[in-house]
Amino acid sequence: MAYGLLKGKRGIISGALDENSIAWKVALKAKEEGATFVLTNAPIAMRMGAINDLAKQCDAEIIPADATSLEDIENLFTKSTEILGGKIDFVLHSIGMSLNVRKGKSYGDLNYDWFQKGVDISALSLHKFLQVAEKLDAINDWGSVVALSYIAAQRTYSFYNDMAEAKAMLESIARSYGYRYGKAKNVRVNTISQSPTKTKAGSGIEGFDAFYDFAEKMSPLGNASADDCANYAITLFSDLTRFVTMQNLYHDGGYSSTGISEELVTMIQQQAQAQQ
Ligand SMILES: NC(=O)c1ccc[n+]([C@@H]2O[C@H](COP(=O)([O-])OP(=O)(O)OC[C@H]3O[C@@H](n4cnc5c(N)ncnc54)[C@H](O)[C@@H]3O)[C@@H](O)[C@H]2O)c1
Repeated sequence: MAYGLLKGKRGIISGALDENSIAWKVALKAKEEGATFVLTNAPIAMRMGAINDLAKQCDAEIIPADATSLEDIENLFTKSTEILGGKIDFVLHSIGMSLNVRKGKSYGDLNYDWFQKGVDISALSLHKFLQVAEKLDAINDWGSVVALSYIAAQRTYSFYNDMAEAKAMLESIARSYGYRYGKAKNVRVNTISQSPTKTKAGSGIEGFDAFYDFAEKMSPLGNASADDCANYAITLFSDLTRFVTMQNLYHDGGYSSTGISEELVTMIQQQAQAQQ
């Protein structure tokens, strides 16, 4: 059911790679809620071609941009305001990648060039988006910027490797730039800390399936789906959340506040009994 929450709003949505991507779901919901927007992804991701189908479904144009390139981001904001006919009201940063994770490097054997590249893609890119937008004055007053994070920014999850550092930095940038942009233009900046979700980025992480099941059993509401994450992002883009800023918002079915669940206690008891 649509509520017209984004009627008349203009946006930029990054990170839609395939139909499992969180950004893909956000784009469909934003369209349903009345927004017009531009889609963007790394030029290399365009080769997969799926984003063209999404663009058709959403009547959206695609502007390729490598999230590490200031030049690309400047072009993205400039062209988006031209295409959409005015300043931007919302931006989704749904970008993450660790070369160390992808290439199976352990946390004690990191390749530091890859580490820096991963931080640039996954965290600094949010700063670059915001700095470029501010310099170009491309975001409307009371605009909203949302980036996607994960609880490994707060707690150690060994399999998450150097992405933990990237997410910690991403959340810090959301706070620091949220303060600055809030003062300047009432623009709000938040991160959503999302449940494990079966996407390309998610399933690239070692042991992801086991961890997905663990989080499912740990959360009183179960894991939050990508569709539900999209719903949450839409509320943050809407005018109903105008005073929410500089926050890391858990969207995880209660996972982050649970010590241990009954399901996990039962499982461990059953395992112990089986071993006796
Ligand atoms: N899947 C999960 O379990 C999960 C949980 C919490 C947070 N997140 C975060 O959600 C966000 C979206 O990931 P997803 O799970 O939808 O996976 P995804 O793989 O569908 O999306 C990641 C996107 O990042 C893009 N990207 C990578 N390098 C880029 C670059 N240099 N420039 C521009 N774009 C680039 C990819 O092309 C892709 O579209 C990421 O920040 C991810 O860390 C995911």
